[in-house]
Amino acid sequence: MKRNSAKIFVAILAVLLLFSGCINTQEEEETTTSINMNNVNPSSVGSYKTMEYQYLTNIDVASLTTNLDKTYLILANKTNELASTYEPSGLTTLTCETTYSMKLEGRAAQALYVMLLEMRAAGVSDIAVTSAYRSYEYQVNTYNGWVQEEMKAPISEDAYRVLGQEYIKMNYLDKKIYSLNLADAHKVAQSYSALPGQSEHQTGLCVDFITSEMNGELTEEFETTEAFEWLSKNAYKFGFILRYPKGKENITGYTYEPWHYRFVGREAATDIYVGDMTLEQYLQLTSN
Ligand code: DAL
Ligand code: ZN
Repeated sequence: MKRNSAKIFVAILAVLLLFSGCINTQEEEETTTSINMNNVNPSSVGSYKTMEYQYLTNIDVASLTTNLDKTYLILANKTNELASTYEPSGLTTLTCETTYSMKLEGRAAQALYVMLLEMRAAGVSDIAVTSAYRSYEYQVNTYNGWVQEEMKAPISEDAYRVLGQEYIKMNYLDKKIYSLNLADAHKVAQSYSALPGQSEHQTGLCVDFITSEMNGELTEEFETTEAFEWLSKNAYKFGFILRYPKGKENITGYTYEPWHYRFVGREAATDIYVGDMTLEQYLQLTSN
């Protein structure tokens, strides 16, 4: 259905439902209220759910919303652990471009496909998913792999960032030691890799993107890609948020990850984007 006829159809339906008392006007899909993006008070969460987007392709809007289903707002971080047995329902194998076979929760996958189609329509096609759902056991291996990496010489840039130049000089270089001990390796790894149970990837609701320019590595260079530029401006319209933003490391607990996007549904994503928030801040604001 074309966007204009969809709007007329939705408007008639909304009027009918409104008068039958079946609709919450906060949740309407296709209204035309616009907001001043430069003058948003994050404490007004919940008031900005009616932004209009100019999509380039025919969008299945229903796949982008969550109808406030709280499962899509699940929090996995350093203080909210998932049980080792937690597995999201409705996992589906991704059919978009991926670097290996991987799964994502069904609604998140639909929203991802719609977003990638729209991205392509906007002329950005160099993008693939390089990580999606990771089980608890998978994260055990991922995390341990990073600890092992941190124990190799030479001492990494991340180690200098986390432990500090002076600490490394005194405890390692001055003693002619050129690789981290296990305790320090854990400390450094935890600045960018989640302990098993603390990874958002276990929710099945997030993806890591990569482009050919990245040569197989996820680094901050992702920030310079066309894909990142597009995602920064548009991901929220599809229900995705940049989960570990720059400057919010003390709130998220992790270093900046320009490649990691989390599906929370279009309503929450819009609030989070407009309010320049993290998921942690959003959940705190909306907890009452
Ligand atoms: N890199 C993110 C924090 C994870 O390991 O889940
Ligand atoms: Zn990730």
